[in-house]
Amino acid sequence: MRTIIEPFRIKSVEPLRQTTPKERDTFLQQAGYNLFLIDARKILIDLLTDSGTSAMSTEQWAAMMRGDESYAGSESFYRMERVVRELTGFKHVIPTHQGRAAERILFTVRGRPGLVIPNNTHFDTTRANVEFSGARAVDLPTPDAADTQARGDFKGNMDVAALERLIETEGAEKIPLVMLTVTNNSGGGQPVSMANIAAVKQVAARHNIPLYLDACRFAENAWFIKLREPDFADWTPKRIAQKMFSYADGCTFSAKKDAFANIGGLLCTNDDRLAMLETNLLILTEGFPTYGGLAGRDLEAIAVGLEEVLDPDYLRYRIVSTGYLGRHIADHGVPIVEPPGGHAIYIDAGRMLPHIPKHEFPAQALAVTLYRHAGIRSVEIGSVMFGANAQHELLRLAIPRRVYTQSHIDYVVEAILEVNQERDRIRGLAIESEPPFLRHFSARFRQL
Ligand code: F0G
Repeated sequence: MRTIIEPFRIKSVEPLRQTTPKERDTFLQQAGYNLFLIDARKILIDLLTDSGTSAMSTEQWAAMMRGDESYAGSESFYRMERVVRELTGFKHVIPTHQGRAAERILFTVRGRPGLVIPNNTHFDTTRANVEFSGARAVDLPTPDAADTQARGDFKGNMDVAALERLIETEGAEKIPLVMLTVTNNSGGGQPVSMANIAAVKQVAARHNIPLYLDACRFAENAWFIKLREPDFADWTPKRIAQKMFSYADGCTFSAKKDAFANIGGLLCTNDDRLAMLETNLLILTEGFPTYGGLAGRDLEAIAVGLEEVLDPDYLRYRIVSTGYLGRHIADHGVPIVEPPGGHAIYIDAGRMLPHIPKHEFPAQALAVTLYRHAGIRSVEIGSVMFGANAQHELLRLAIPRRVYTQSHIDYVVEAILEVNQERDRIRGLAIESEPPFLRHFSARFRQL
């Protein structure tokens, strides 16, 4: 059979609420044309993020019922720790309330002014936590990533030659760790190859620098390796993931992505001394080391989710369904970051709306138009989010895991193609008020 179906059926449903374009126009005015400021019940299809928005399985809900809520020594923690150790091989597994809490603890211990942290591309919270420690965050994406239209297999890779140059100019003692984000979220959800992970590890190890994975979407990355790196075509996703982690000395992880959990994160390491320092900080802000800011039931959901996400039927469906959205809009003339990534499709709004200059926020204008037209919420990743540092003006359509069916995605395709027909009439935006930082969450705009 050629049709790839959702590998689940639906047992519990949540109604979607329809609104009219006129109502949505009012909501937009009230929210200052910022989709973060619109109530979720006024959204029909919510593609703001794939983070914490997954549908949980019957097995996850069943496991939550046996959540052990003991303050110390919870059985649920040990179950989760066993699953994580088997998958990653890391000795110390520290639970946190989400990924950025793991980043905060890691960089409090490892960052300080004068140090440099390289990454293929830092996610915004990772960059913010590096910079908050006083260290400098440096992105070293592979040169093929610069062209959004190039269809490379592994456009999430790190530029290994650039890493070598950085170590040479800064000195290894200034680089406390090298990080690889799999998949590369800020770089279009593109995967990192096993060969690249191995090459980065080799360079880092030669200088005694630990390698960390930002492993949020490790399973989607493993599936791309299976599809695109011939040596791994016959491997199970689990074995590929284990191999990926085998190169790393530690990881940060947001369980809100590839663990199908609505909350949670992890910080892992093999280093006993580091683990002790991190655990001390954990107790200060997150909680005792066997719960770390989570309920026992959350730990159960993560333990089950980490096993479910490596099911080949799920991963095949996940990557094909994201690609389905990407191909159906791109093959009808909407420029996207090519090829489609794992968790999201990124429309290149700068290319789609050449009549709107950067300072009038083309991707934000497109987000507003798509919401007004069809009730779909997406997120700007461009000059609103990154200011003058923005490399592209992108609109991200992130797909929550196991939540929407193909007919929802067909509706999204139809809406985007209709908006594309009328693209010459889309107008830019001007900022009316903005906070001193993180302006994409609360800036208000007016239409030009
Ligand atoms: N690293 C990456 C690559 C991420 O994509 C995220 C979150 C984090 C770290 C932080 O994890 O949210 O659990 O604190 N990304 C979400 C997104 C918010 O929409 O892409 P967190």
